[in-house]
Amino acid sequence: MQHLALVSRIISAMGLLLAVLMGFMLHNCSCRHMIFSAIIRSSDATKRSPWTDEVVCPHIQGQGGVRGTVVEIGAGAGISVMCYKAIMGQIEKLILVEPLLNFRRDLEKAVELWGLPLGKVMIVTEGGEDLRQHIANESVDFVVSIHLLCSVEEALRIPLIHEVTRILKPAGGEWRTIDHTTDPDPASFRYKAQKFIEPVWSIVGNGCQFLDMPRLYEEWFRGEGKGSLKMKSFRQFNFAAVAPWVPLVHPHVSGVMMKVV
Ligand SMILES: C[S@@+](CC[C@H](N)C(=O)[O-])C[C@H]1O[C@@H](n2cnc3c(N)ncnc32)[C@H](O)[C@@H]1O
Repeated sequence: MQHLALVSRIISAMGLLLAVLMGFMLHNCSCRHMIFSAIIRSSDATKRSPWTDEVVCPHIQGQGGVRGTVVEIGAGAGISVMCYKAIMGQIEKLILVEPLLNFRRDLEKAVELWGLPLGKVMIVTEGGEDLRQHIANESVDFVVSIHLLCSVEEALRIPLIHEVTRILKPAGGEWRTIDHTTDPDPASFRYKAQKFIEPVWSIVGNGCQFLDMPRLYEEWFRGEGKGSLKMKSFRQFNFAAVAPWVPLVHPHVSGVMMKVV
């Protein structure tokens, strides 16, 4: 009985500590950014992994590879920088957009480490929802985004998609995305666990939410985005090797969207 009381006191104390820590992180941006960037850095941009080799790089290098002027939005700590190395000959300019200043040095290091020609790479520390200072209308051949939309503030999501549409060239401009999404079955254990953990997850993940990505895209194509982009390909897949310490970041969706002329 005494043991039970002790265990319950320890659990309550830990719960309280977690609540205080979450409250502190919620109101303290630099602490939240520091923890979030440490988590993103843990997927080591200096090493290849099954995630980069089997998912991210084929998405960037597939179908002839991205080429011309390429913009990656939400580049984080630069996990995908390695994927551009093999196709740098066909890339005229690579613009890595990442609003979090914490990642600037990581991106510079990744570009250096993977030997991308410095003259062709530009790092922009801005949100992808307004790139007018850096990128002209209809000047970009390919936009790439990996695990971006879950992290974008809800109010900025539509402006960001509008911005992608603005910068893409009308003839052949393409947006290649990979996102994690909610389990398609709301009755599944995973879906319930995703929704249960979301309040804490979004603090630790600096705003990252579990979104129903197929629905989000569908709403965009039927609503505001009607006539601006069309889906060339879309697939949902499970990739168990990604972040084995985060079993909730499944399944994934990848899409290729074309600008409508
Ligand atoms: C989950 S992380 C993924 C980072 C990286 N692409 C990766 O795969 O490791 C999402 C990234 O999107 C960035 N992000 C959030 N809101 C953004 C916005 N409005 N514009 C551009 N990037 C944004 C975050 O700062 C973060 O680096």
